[in-house]
Amino acid sequence: MTTQPTLEVLNSLCKRRGFVFQTSNIYGGLANSYDYGPLGVELLRNIKASWWKTFIEKRPDMVGLDSQILLHPETWVASGHTTSFNDPLVEDAVTGKRYRADHLIEAWQQKHDRPDHELAENMSVEEMGKYITENKVLSPDGNAVAAPRVFNLLFETAIGAVTGEKSKVYLRGETAQGIFTNFKNILDSSRVRLPFGVGQIGKSFRNEVTTGQFVFRTLEFEQAEIEYFFDPEKTDWKELLSAWKEDLWSFVTNQLGISEENLRWRQHSDSERSFYSEDTYDLDYNFSFGWKELWGLAYRTDYDLKQHTKHSGHEHTVTDIESGKTFVPHVIEPAVGVNRMFLMVLTDHFWEDTERKRTVLKLPFSLAPYKVAVFPLVRNKPELVEKARKLYVDLCEKFPTTWDDRSNIGKRYLYQDEIGTPFCITVDYDSLEDDTVTIRDRDTAEQIRIPQAKISEYIAAAASRMIR
Ligand code: GAP
Repeated sequence: MTTQPTLEVLNSLCKRRGFVFQTSNIYGGLANSYDYGPLGVELLRNIKASWWKTFIEKRPDMVGLDSQILLHPETWVASGHTTSFNDPLVEDAVTGKRYRADHLIEAWQQKHDRPDHELAENMSVEEMGKYITENKVLSPDGNAVAAPRVFNLLFETAIGAVTGEKSKVYLRGETAQGIFTNFKNILDSSRVRLPFGVGQIGKSFRNEVTTGQFVFRTLEFEQAEIEYFFDPEKTDWKELLSAWKEDLWSFVTNQLGISEENLRWRQHSDSERSFYSEDTYDLDYNFSFGWKELWGLAYRTDYDLKQHTKHSGHEHTVTDIESGKTFVPHVIEPAVGVNRMFLMVLTDHFWEDTERKRTVLKLPFSLAPYKVAVFPLVRNKPELVEKARKLYVDLCEKFPTTWDDRSNIGKRYLYQDEIGTPFCITVDYDSLEDDTVTIRDRDTAEQIRIPQAKISEYIAAAASRMIR
């Protein structure tokens, strides 16, 4: 197993090369909030495009959706978020800083090597309080903490301009509820038949208190969620869940190129699982700070649709064409955070090439922000620059391409390696004579000379080998 880059190393690369910046840093930043720079936005877009293509475009049983961030507030009452979307919080008795009680317990157990102790995720808030007292769990600053309290994660805001007449709404805590509230609309307006799924990618908001995990846990983040509806009498939920496990694993390893050794399935224990779920798994990734949830996969029965029927008065049923039976479909939910996929992709493809003394992001071709970089050998020879510029404009039509004429060729290679550009093309004096160019492969650092007319063909063939 290769050593993972630490969060500090990744954070520094992301800032230096324009993947991720601390948000509002000119004002001192905002906790757990980040902006995606010119390269970060491209990588995020490529991850989302890959998810959409795999799970929506290529599947006849799936359709897409883009629902609102602000939904009717009753949605969150029906879903249970207003009452049970809580984290257990403790406060440092001296500094007043707040921490997640379960995270403090986890850290204490790791430090004292207590795998025999009950996991924090299986404890109630009262049990966490007792554990903290009995084991003298302290804050990261070494101070005592007060008994844990529950803290709702939903962000509240208000509609209306006039104070007193404003009505409370919430920034959505998950994209899933917009799918449930549109279930009937989709069923009535499209050609879908059970079993079918609805997927959407969008921003979600949670009032998280944990800091220091870079983009792993943020206040504002993107989710890619699917609700897959089925008739439990016709489809065996255990088989369906297994099929989804295979599909998620295949996406992460084949499309995102992640090493299998850094992935594992973890089944939720009875006490950890939501009361309405029959079975839940997390697809965990081995981040530099431990195995953490990347993707949740839950069999949620018919709980959500029934809750929305109860609170809205609208039926959420389907009538089986053959038997005439009317019933509420059951649902399996694969839910992933796009920003966590982003962090995993950077972690897994980060490579310190000690032999050639360079840092490389060995991104799969489909994920790389730029596929090609074009350089004129020197920038003070107009005929070279003109020829390279023409090639750059031509390649931009075919692949995301970047231009670099700063410093020397060696430094340009190092820069492109660090941002994961698979191919660098140099236009030199020979190019003016015979229309050939040098093309360099990011992973092998090998350079070959090819006719300019063959570039696209060469890249297309080489790209298919560039999964890992
Ligand atoms: N609808 C189910 C649901 O939202 P979840 O496990 O709370 O389930 C799904 O969230 C995924 O969203 C997680 O597996 C994780 O990848 C991502 N996620 C959750 N909270 C996050 C946060 N604060 N920052 C970044 N990603 C987050």
